[in-house]
Amino acid sequence: MTVHFIGAGPGAADLITVRGRDRIAACPVCLYAGSLVAPEILGWCPPGARIVDTAPLDLDAIMAEIRTAHTAGQDVARLHSGDLSIWSALAEQMRRLDALAIPYTVTPGVPAFAAAAALLRRELTVPGVAQTVVLTRTSGRASAMPEGETLSAYAATGATLAIHLSIHAVEAVAAELIPFYGPSCPAAAVFRASWPDERALVGDLATLPGLVAAAGLERTALILVGPALSAAGFRESALYAPDYDRRYRPGGTVGQPS
Ligand SMILES: C[S@@+](CC[C@H](N)C(=O)[O-])C[C@H]1O[C@@H](n2cnc3c(N)ncnc32)[C@H](O)[C@@H]1O
Repeated sequence: MTVHFIGAGPGAADLITVRGRDRIAACPVCLYAGSLVAPEILGWCPPGARIVDTAPLDLDAIMAEIRTAHTAGQDVARLHSGDLSIWSALAEQMRRLDALAIPYTVTPGVPAFAAAAALLRRELTVPGVAQTVVLTRTSGRASAMPEGETLSAYAATGATLAIHLSIHAVEAVAAELIPFYGPSCPAAAVFRASWPDERALVGDLATLPGLVAAAGLERTALILVGPALSAAGFRESALYAPDYDRRYRPGGTVGQPS
């Protein structure tokens, strides 16, 4: 018996990986993380599968479900939204499984920030403008931010910021970032990227809080900030330059990737 942790993607059912879909189809038990997992994805469970929404369960209750499946020798598909490497509670579940000597696998998924960038049709790293993306959040009821992990610290680098779990605090976020990026720095709020009701609000740090308030959207949104979001006059990457010398296109004169 194995627990298969699977990143279910940002919302749209066809943004799960082929491996994730196949694992779901092979597991007689499916534990999924509430409304952030599309109902169509649950449709890939085999007939008669036990399908449990874990949103109302605490960790002990989730582990009880897994132990019951373990005793019955039934594989479990454990679905979380987006990818598992960020804000999925994967670490604590794996620690419990390690203690119980229950085997598990981890299948990655498309993270929400990638779906948000796709909706905006923007690359978050643009040559000469931004070469770093910071995936972060602000303090919430369940998790305080570790000391030093402040928006100001990241803003000081000028990187592109992808701020999760913080749409309710968009005004405070903008106020903290404006001293670093300036009020006219491009900023966007992307709601439910890849879901049928996805929506992007695009403005700058000065206007974004008003746009979000006017739209009245409060959940499942990402705030993206940084000059890369509207970069136009940037230089092209040397990687595809005619004179760039790389293994499969030898003969150029430029030696290093940029
Ligand atoms: C608990 S975190 C899960 C992140 C997820 N593991 C990932 O890889 O993106 C939930 C937060 O991710 C963001 N999020 C998740 N799905 C989203 C979507 N489809 N569109 C925009 N933001 C989303 C929101 O900031 C939301 O508050």
